[in-house]
Amino acid sequence: MDRFVVNGGNPLRGTVEVGGMKNSALGILFATILTEDVCVIENLPPVSDVMATLEILSAIGARVRKLSRTSVEIDTRFIVPCSSPYDLARKFRGSYYILGAELGRFGRARSALPGGCDFGVRPIDRHIKGFEALGAEISIKDGCVIGETGADGLNGTSIYMDDVSVGATINIMLAAVRAKGMTVIDNPAREPHVVDCANFLNACGANISGAGTDVIKIKGVSQLQGTTYAILPDMIEAGTFMAAACAVDGSELTIANVIPKHLESITAKLVELGATVVENDDSITVSRNGRLNRINVKTLPYPGFPTDMNPQICVLLATAAGTSILTESVFENRFRYVDELIRMGASIKLEGRSAIVQGVLMLKSAKVKAVDLRAGVAMIIAGLSAEGQTVIEDIYHIERGYEDIVDKLRSVGGDIVRVSYDGTDKGTAAV
Ligand code: UD1
Repeated sequence: MDRFVVNGGNPLRGTVEVGGMKNSALGILFATILTEDVCVIENLPPVSDVMATLEILSAIGARVRKLSRTSVEIDTRFIVPCSSPYDLARKFRGSYYILGAELGRFGRARSALPGGCDFGVRPIDRHIKGFEALGAEISIKDGCVIGETGADGLNGTSIYMDDVSVGATINIMLAAVRAKGMTVIDNPAREPHVVDCANFLNACGANISGAGTDVIKIKGVSQLQGTTYAILPDMIEAGTFMAAACAVDGSELTIANVIPKHLESITAKLVELGATVVENDDSITVSRNGRLNRINVKTLPYPGFPTDMNPQICVLLATAAGTSILTESVFENRFRYVDELIRMGASIKLEGRSAIVQGVLMLKSAKVKAVDLRAGVAMIIAGLSAEGQTVIEDIYHIERGYEDIVDKLRSVGGDIVRVSYDGTDKGTAAV
């Protein structure tokens, strides 16, 4: 069981590059099933959720050929539907996209109920409701979701989403893209991941309009073809580095390969905290001088402040001057990391869906756990800013979504190494 060891206090200076967006990569990789052809996907982040997706695709009969560290060729002509390996699919949330893709191509689908980070109940009822509206029959048996359509296949329809869901929006889009007629999704998620998937599908010959707005229209086509497509930069990885720069006084970090528009809500909050943020065409520079101000933050679906930045911003509030309130409105139980931050000297009280954060002058090192993906990376940020040496356990959570986090942070001055349980250094420097 490896862990990260972080010595705090070093300002982050220089340039760090962001990879492709994990959450859209999962949707796009499963979407290749719909093409029945050969696709090349570029700017793919080589993180463990993506590797697990490629393993599932191989296991169901796709021919997957790695072209480089970040690009892959996938031939989905010979896929066997309903054969996704249970133990792989249950490991991560994004495996649910195989359902929409298999339903869309074969009219039948089967996959284990998905896993992923534990922020309380994470149902997939909105996905199921959407598939049913398109004409599929869905049942749950032996821990698997099973979908089937009759001889008539899937038919376009109007679907109103009571609450915004990124996963359900993409999954319905996957199922609808080859359905007969027009599907209209009202109140869809507007996240860049949704737009990225729609752009990929359109590049394959789909007819999707309105992705990124309040209404998505999908005119069914009978067939798609393969394409070469580069995934958009990961806004959450970018936001995480922005927060890291903000965490250590004296930092000046340029985050390259980003789309500044996707980062507007994060930029606005960091500026309110007192950081300086300079936007360029495809990079953003964040610098911090002096203590941060207290602020209030509420997570919301895009274009609001992302729930996937909740733990990272909480670390910043933990040392801001005064009392901040962080309200989580997307997931019911996103604050499981708070106990870990309290170990590091933070003063945080939970009241319902809000964390009341009384800023302390400095966090102190401790042995902490990565309780989930974003919470784990927040522990790294806390460790970078804290006095002394922080040890982070259960780092497999972090590696589900962050590529080369150690090397990237080391290249800009962060003192972090990955060590095995017995203390043997696996990084480039001594502990
Ligand atoms: C995706 C992201 C995740 C991010 C989240 C919100 C992936 C693989 N994961 O997760 O990193 O934190 O968007 O930006 O892309 N809900 C239901 N029923 C459903 C679906 C969702 O009640 O069928 C609820 C969820 O429990 C949650 C809210 O809706 O409270 C939003 O969830 P959703 O947007 O669907 O998140 P995910 O797609 O799971």
